[in-house]
Amino acid sequence: MYHKYLLALLISGTIFTQTSNAQTERKHINFDFGWKFHLGNASDPNRDFNYGIGNVFSKSGETSNTAISEKWDESGWDSVNLPHDWVVGLPFTYIKNDDIDAHGYKPVGGLFPENSIGWYRKSFTLNAQDSGGRYILQFDGVYRDSKVWINGYYVGGNFSGYTTAYYDITDFIRFGKKNTLVVRADATQDEGWFYEGAGIYRHVWLNNYNDVHIAQKDGFYVHTAIKGKDATIYTETKVENKSLENQNISVFTEITNREGKVIGTSKVQPIQLAIDESGRIKQSIALKNVELWDLDNPYLYRAVTVVTKNGKELDRLKVKFGIREFKFDSKDGFFLNGKSVKMLGVSNHQDHAGVGVALPDYLQYYRVGLLKEMGANAYRTTHNPPTPELLDACDSLGILVFDETRLLTSGNEYAKQLTDLVERDRNHASVFMWSIGNEEYLTQANNIGTRIAQNQINLIKTLDTTRGISYAANMGNVYKGVNEVIPIRGFNYHLEGIDPYHKDHPEQPVYGSEVSSMVSTRGVFIKDTVNCYVPDYDSTFPSWAAKAETWWTQADARKWYMGGFVWTGFDYRGEPTPYRWPNINSHFGIMDMCGFPKTVYYYYQAWWSNKDVLNIAPHWNWKGDEGKEKLVWINSNAEDVELFLNGQSLGKKTMPKDGHLTWNVKYTPGELKAIGHRNGKEITSIVKTTDVPYQIKLSPSKKVLLADGEDAVVVNVSVVDKEGLEVPNANDLIQFSLNGTDAQIIGVGNGDPSSHEADKCVDGAWQRHLFGGKAQVIIKSGKNKGQIQMVASSNIIKNAIVEFDVN
Ligand code: GAL
Repeated sequence: MYHKYLLALLISGTIFTQTSNAQTERKHINFDFGWKFHLGNASDPNRDFNYGIGNVFSKSGETSNTAISEKWDESGWDSVNLPHDWVVGLPFTYIKNDDIDAHGYKPVGGLFPENSIGWYRKSFTLNAQDSGGRYILQFDGVYRDSKVWINGYYVGGNFSGYTTAYYDITDFIRFGKKNTLVVRADATQDEGWFYEGAGIYRHVWLNNYNDVHIAQKDGFYVHTAIKGKDATIYTETKVENKSLENQNISVFTEITNREGKVIGTSKVQPIQLAIDESGRIKQSIALKNVELWDLDNPYLYRAVTVVTKNGKELDRLKVKFGIREFKFDSKDGFFLNGKSVKMLGVSNHQDHAGVGVALPDYLQYYRVGLLKEMGANAYRTTHNPPTPELLDACDSLGILVFDETRLLTSGNEYAKQLTDLVERDRNHASVFMWSIGNEEYLTQANNIGTRIAQNQINLIKTLDTTRGISYAANMGNVYKGVNEVIPIRGFNYHLEGIDPYHKDHPEQPVYGSEVSSMVSTRGVFIKDTVNCYVPDYDSTFPSWAAKAETWWTQADARKWYMGGFVWTGFDYRGEPTPYRWPNINSHFGIMDMCGFPKTVYYYYQAWWSNKDVLNIAPHWNWKGDEGKEKLVWINSNAEDVELFLNGQSLGKKTMPKDGHLTWNVKYTPGELKAIGHRNGKEITSIVKTTDVPYQIKLSPSKKVLLADGEDAVVVNVSVVDKEGLEVPNANDLIQFSLNGTDAQIIGVGNGDPSSHEADKCVDGAWQRHLFGGKAQVIIKSGKNKGQIQMVASSNIIKNAIVEFDVN
């Protein structure tokens, strides 16, 4: 859909008419493919492709003899597609430095200048007939301090490794010719104290729309108010005139249901915009008998805002949104759509096994799906703005999001980061609270903290008034600094302070912004200080932390205590606790780095979900330990549980609310069986001693992929004995290969927090040891259709093959 508009120029009495192709259909073009990548160097300009010695900021378009130049010889650079994290493939490296250990012993940062600069180049061509309208580059996340050039022209940079950045490149494009996009990312300085990766690790887009258009950054805001079964949809459309004449245009907005049927339309509102002027149009649409967005039925409507001129359409934008209402009540707790809901939350960092922070979108859905399956209903994006696809996953799967900015501070840079976060995320149905920061120990309890917090709260309120605002304070019963002004009081740990604080400040809603931090290693049931493992029970925790059962029992018993966010849903690289090297990742997860459940997973599932849960830990493969006592730990929501060893009852026990049951059992090989009763129903669980591994077993998360070069599948790997029983303590080395289309394995993992094996391919080969009987392979589709076949093999055990269709 293109239309021509006339630009009349009156020069010396003559009318010249110039036509320009101004397209009306907004385009959102994926820019993830066909990049070239090379490491630069933070301390040696010669190895940084002359950056630092070429004077690239002296004249407009000046590139000197640097990698910014279109002519730069990029042969020898790697071909990469996005998302890309250059750190995940670096070798684990021990040096005694707190920052390195917090980041997971990867050689990146100030001490490793040779690994801390990443250069990316991409060429692209736009047809001459597409030369209308604006072209805006969108980077959803580059870690970090990125600078962007197009055809040698510097178009801007982004200090943050986590916010989305937009660059208008319209003036610099050469239509019909090659264009060169160059990005320099500088990860010399970290932002956090956890693995952060580096590179263009989220999507890049090229947006194209009419010169007269809905603004890119804060162009559309939709929020809702509910009355009974009806709702009012409030919208704000910001339009911009980048054409060369004044514009008389109109804006209207319509609402469609999930099937695309229009169910409400606003008035058509005229607006006049001078050249380079922007304006905002506020509209409201009444809807009858609406479907609410909630946790079980995350219903999403679409708002479509349209800009027209003389009846012709110039631009339209479609945004998904949900109709729902939040209430944070200091006496009665949190309410979603008028229903009392406890926050069953988890905090998470961004990385996953195999891929670092460069997650295919599918993995976001996979991870959120695992949390939902466990019974979680809330996600805190610690400690930074998330990738937009995480929010999409939470919107469509029904998980509330506590959306966090990087730092509690109000200088220009961080006020901008907070603005960017709120403007980008405020249309997401799932976002229910904004977080202005976490554990700012230098600031949070003094009057600088009060002033900063007040500023950030005020800033958020100018952009969105429909969510809660909170801060993750590691303070007990302390009413100083941030806590004096924050609308919703978050407690990081300090469980002892919660009751007295609530008593002293009964008007402030309270919840656990960070709770537990219990540490456990999946499938390891003893403390192992050599390999740096902690027992896979709800038993070990650092000084500031608490068991799962401790915090949850307290929260569940108090109506006003709105719930909490467990540290963390998944293990993550960095912050090895309580050990250090050779332990390279955290043990805080309810699931490990691959998303394999630990024992505590079943504790949460028992008390958070509606499922029948009866889990026996540990496994029953203890060859050599015959006659020794084992701690058998039952997580269940059954009212009572009876445990049997080889058919003999070891007694029946009543399950305490929010508790667990244990037995000390002398090990004899055979069968441990638990029988429980729940709501008049019998539930059973069995754990058997297995034989040695016989065959590899592959469990893919799906069997069909899209041939879009972006889709992915998770293949979980285990081994079974001759009877088909999974061998829980197998640690065999398994090799992986893929045949068929251009799909590729992009990472492997096993959840071992002390494994120094490569997550990436080494010398052309993909392989990984099983840890606690499991490993994981992540496959990404290519753009070719066809069949792919993954083969998993080992020298001793029988192979396994799994096939996929790529359509
Ligand atoms: C908190 C902090 C988290 C993580 C956690 C580990 O104090 O906010 O980022 O470090 O401790 O228990």
